[in-house]
Amino acid sequence: MNAIQRCMLSTAAGAALALFGFGCGESSDAPTPPKSAERAPLPPAAKPPAPPPAPPAPAKAPDTPADPNTAVEAPATPADPNAVVEADAKVGKADYQIYCASCHGEAGEGDGPVAQALNPKPARHNDGAYMNPLTDDYLFKVIKFGGLSVGKSSMMAPLGGSLSDQQIRNVIAFIRSLADPPYQP
Ligand code: HEC
Repeated sequence: MNAIQRCMLSTAAGAALALFGFGCGESSDAPTPPKSAERAPLPPAAKPPAPPPAPPAPAKAPDTPADPNTAVEAPATPADPNAVVEADAKVGKADYQIYCASCHGEAGEGDGPVAQALNPKPARHNDGAYMNPLTDDYLFKVIKFGGLSVGKSSMMAPLGGSLSDQQIRNVIAFIRSLADPPYQP
């Protein structure tokens, strides 16, 4: 058969494009053109998201000014070992949860998990009527050297081995913050 006959055959096979005479070339590969036509639209659809990452980078660059005066001011906080650091209740709260809450309770109510087994019971640090009259020096001594150092129960353990003097002052500041009625220095 000749080329025209072959074309007629492939048309008869049902290729839609063949109805309009497309794909009727030298060979009988009529189905090939439609395939490549279908493939063409795919690449554009898959690649669009590539550009987005670019914007963030240029945005930050201008934010960092190279001002020599700024660098000089940064180390303005000297670490003077003799400086008196003010007691910080927030910092003390963290140590209190670690070293005191098991007996005295997380909120100083004297209801920690170990409290049940103790007699006398751990002090209620939120009891302002009891705690407020006690001086900072007294509290410092109890905490650092233990209950026995002030004639109290040995179950109030000396915590000077675990806490620095500064940590103890922070814990005292936290205890003071629990007091009800409020502690007035
Ligand atoms: C093993 C349990 C236990 C732990 C842990 C503990 N305490 Fe106590 N604490 C006691 C007991 C028991 C008493 C009561 C002693 C008494 O009344 O004789 C007490 C009493 C006190 C008192 C009151 C002293 C007084 O004059 O009534 C203070 C203040 C105190 N504790 C602070 C602390 C602090 C701060 C911590 C954590 C750094 C701590 N305790 C950790 C058991 C504990």
